[in-house]
Amino acid sequence: MSRKIHVEILDDAEAVGRKAAARILAVVERKPEAVLGLATGSTPIPAYRELVKLAHERKVSFAGVKTFNLDEYLGLSGSHPQSYRQYMNRYLFEHLDIPLWQTALPDGAASDPEAECAAFEARIRAAGGVDLWLLGIGSNGHIGFNEPGAPRDCRTRVASLAPSTIEASAKDFGGAAGVPRQALTAGVATILEAREILLLATGAGKAPAVAGALEGPITPQLPASYLQAHPSCAFVLDRAAASKLVKP
Ligand code: GLP
Repeated sequence: MSRKIHVEILDDAEAVGRKAAARILAVVERKPEAVLGLATGSTPIPAYRELVKLAHERKVSFAGVKTFNLDEYLGLSGSHPQSYRQYMNRYLFEHLDIPLWQTALPDGAASDPEAECAAFEARIRAAGGVDLWLLGIGSNGHIGFNEPGAPRDCRTRVASLAPSTIEASAKDFGGAAGVPRQALTAGVATILEAREILLLATGAGKAPAVAGALEGPITPQLPASYLQAHPSCAFVLDRAAASKLVKP
């Protein structure tokens, strides 16, 4: 079977970060008004660090860039320390010349979450769609908060976190009991509409999900497997995350 997803295997998480940052910067250099899709979690942190460094070194402006983040916890306002809005400001936006109003995350504290999800989709459309969407992957194969079972055609919506996702987030909330049970997340269809997708995975904990996504069947049970049908998708992995691939 020939693989449509381009796979790159690098030594470690720092190298994955450098590769991702270089790709993102290339998109912005080619198109100063680029629309970027972004992700949170521990995986993209080295990429954001390197992106800030490169942008400064090469004097690349993000003043015309628009960004859309995958997700936000339901019930958390953008000022909550564990909100993804705070994460993005801290790791990326504060260090670039992008105006904050050009950076969008679903509002976890919206009074009408369904309307907020519809508005988020409309905002992506109004921006002309996403040029490059950076993704992580859950150890259960989720993308954004599209957990196992999420259908191919789902769009931005309120979704429930899988038990393993709650467990993985427990450290950020002083234990599993404090983790929000739901989130607003861009849907699978929303993500697949991006013109290019770049998924990063590091660490052995991601190896089974990465192998399933690349070498298993396309199945709702492993939402990252939907990416096999995308015309321009790359996975950038460290050796540990690639360790369960049959054909690396
Ligand atoms: C979270 C996020 C995902 C992220 C994933 C992996 O649940 N919603 O977008 O990709 O977990 O996180 P990490 O990179 O910390 O392993």
